Amino acid sequence: MLNRLLITGAAGGLGKVLRHQLGHVAETIRVSDIAALGDAGRNEEVVQCDLGDKAGVLDLVDGCDGVLHLGGKSIEGTWDVVRAANIDGVVNLYEAARKTGKPRIIYASSNHAIGFHQQTELLDANSRTRPDSYYGVSKVFGEAIASMYYDKFGIETACIRIGSCFPEPINHRMLSTWMSYDDFVRLIERIFMVPRLGCPIIYGASANAASWWDNREVAYLGWTPEDNSEVFRAKLDAAMDPPRADHPTAVFQGGTFCADGIHEES
Ligand SMILES: NC(=O)c1ccc[n+]([C@@H]2O[C@H](COP(=O)([O-])OP(=O)(O)OC[C@H]3O[C@@H](n4cnc5c(N)ncnc54)[C@H](O)[C@@H]3O)[C@@H](O)[C@H]2O)c1
Repeated sequence: MLNRLLITGAAGGLGKVLRHQLGHVAETIRVSDIAALGDAGRNEEVVQCDLGDKAGVLDLVDGCDGVLHLGGKSIEGTWDVVRAANIDGVVNLYEAARKTGKPRIIYASSNHAIGFHQQTELLDANSRTRPDSYYGVSKVFGEAIASMYYDKFGIETACIRIGSCFPEPINHRMLSTWMSYDDFVRLIERIFMVPRLGCPIIYGASANAASWWDNREVAYLGWTPEDNSEVFRAKLDAAMDPPRADHPTAVFQGGTFCADGIHEES
């Protein structure tokens, strides 16, 4: 069990859920976000902090032996916005980790780091990155920072290329990318439990029949996802037509992000 787990982005979609499901992983959960977080629950500490605030992030990480880094821009944006949250913010986090207790880190990377691979390809941890957006580029950068801080300083990080972590798939692409909250919690448990983590790339998806991703490289984690998006297929088929075969959402692993233009400053 960890002594203190920091969850960044704890006011976000995933953070709001995971904040209440990881009480068994650490004695204390320090929840943080730039946005309001509400009152501290049992075993919680609440720290509002902008990831762009270097001194603030140093204090935030101090005393933590685990970090679940969810905070940042989670979709495409202008470069200024993506850079502040996902580039500067990640550097601040790893510098704080180096200067404090070198906590074990879970880095919320994304399928958009490999989004331009076609859906006909089966990817593993050695597949090259093919980001589909500034957002995807920022996730590749985060994986690179994690790798450098591991090789130089021994800070261990699990880089999870999260597919779509929502209550259920809401389109046909998500039948391949969906990860249940329960499978994510099981993965987080294993990452903080294994004696040696290293700095692996993990595809964050449930045991979906329609998967494009091969996690054999991280079999040593002992993580076996249990859910399968197939249980939602009939409901999806009834709610909407599948996309045309030549539509980006049916061609590329990153879906419509691959068809979007650059978000310019206005
Ligand atoms: N939900 C998914 O399916 C999914 C898929 C792929 C990757 N991810 C990644 O997982 C993480 C969490 O995703 P989510 O869906 O909960 O996103 P979200 O946008 O709901 O939450 C992100 C949180 O980060 C906070 N944040 C943004 N900028 C910040 C800053 N400068 N300082 C401090 N906090 C800041 C936001 O206030 C927000 O609460 C993100 O990093 C996202 O890129 C999620």
